[in-house]
Amino acid sequence: MKNDLPSDALYTLEDLEKWPREGTSLAVLGHPVKHSLSPPMHNAALAELNRDHPEFSDWTYYKFDIQPEELKSALGKFYRKGFKGLNLTVPHKILAAQWVNIGEAEVELTEACNTLLWTENGYQGYNTDLYGLTSAIEDEFKIQLQDRDVLLLGAGGAARAAAVACGQTGVRSLTLANRTVSKLDAIRGVLEKLESCPPVDTCALDQPLPSVSERMIVINATSLGLDPDDPTPADLRKLPASTLVFDMIYNPARTKLLKEAESLGMQVANGLGMLAYQGERSLKIWTQKNPSAKTMFAAAQAGLQST
Ligand code: ATR
Repeated sequence: MKNDLPSDALYTLEDLEKWPREGTSLAVLGHPVKHSLSPPMHNAALAELNRDHPEFSDWTYYKFDIQPEELKSALGKFYRKGFKGLNLTVPHKILAAQWVNIGEAEVELTEACNTLLWTENGYQGYNTDLYGLTSAIEDEFKIQLQDRDVLLLGAGGAARAAAVACGQTGVRSLTLANRTVSKLDAIRGVLEKLESCPPVDTCALDQPLPSVSERMIVINATSLGLDPDDPTPADLRKLPASTLVFDMIYNPARTKLLKEAESLGMQVANGLGMLAYQGERSLKIWTQKNPSAKTMFAAAQAGLQST
């Protein structure tokens, strides 16, 4: 009864109640979560770690479809079943942060967490999205964020993590743009709590930008683009061709925003790298080893191609 459960199946709370595994289990919880690439990505990294560290031979990562109203009781059940680590995705990151012990300051700042570690005193929460975003951007574009003027689109949980990541990195300036402008005040408030806060501007998504420079990077943290029929979240035509455009969405691999940017001669990247880097740090928290982000990226890419 060790590794007899398929890791590509979609599990539910009902499955959890009669969870038969004796080995170490990890999982991502979300709704919807059917198309998550986290199981193949983490299981590939675990297989690699296992070559030098046989203690991971019975570790397997699964995915569970959990509704937001089930989350609180589900977390208690995962804890009692001994799930060593959990990842949280849409729409659980902000919800979960109120019920777990704070593992690092980023959870307090963003009021969101995407990674839980089993400890004797309950689950401890971390937010590896900040590391995921900055590592992916610096890796994909071979730049330092500190030198850049950032235009961040969105004001949800993902945008909050991105804003704090930009603030902590010390970007040159940060412009926050969202459909609902009033939601940007909360993010500005979070940024002002940082030791050093870059200059921050806010505007509506469809308004002209307060300023434009040759060193801009646009980060899309809205959900616009998940549906191929969605309009693009920003008009890039007034920005210089030197602008870099990063979309957190990875499926579809090329959103309308990225296609428009490419047609304007801009360099682009999708969110697959961020997925791999945030996963790398989560797995490091659980295993206390150094998993390979490269292996995780390759497995996520292969998973994407087969969907
Ligand atoms: P997440 O946790 O992934 O960030 P979220 O909290 O639901 O998800 O945030 C979704 C983001 O996409 C928000 O910035 C939202 O804008 P509003 O704050 O105005 O709701 C943005 N968004 C979603 N649908 C949109 C649309 N049709 N047009 C413009 N922005 C949209």
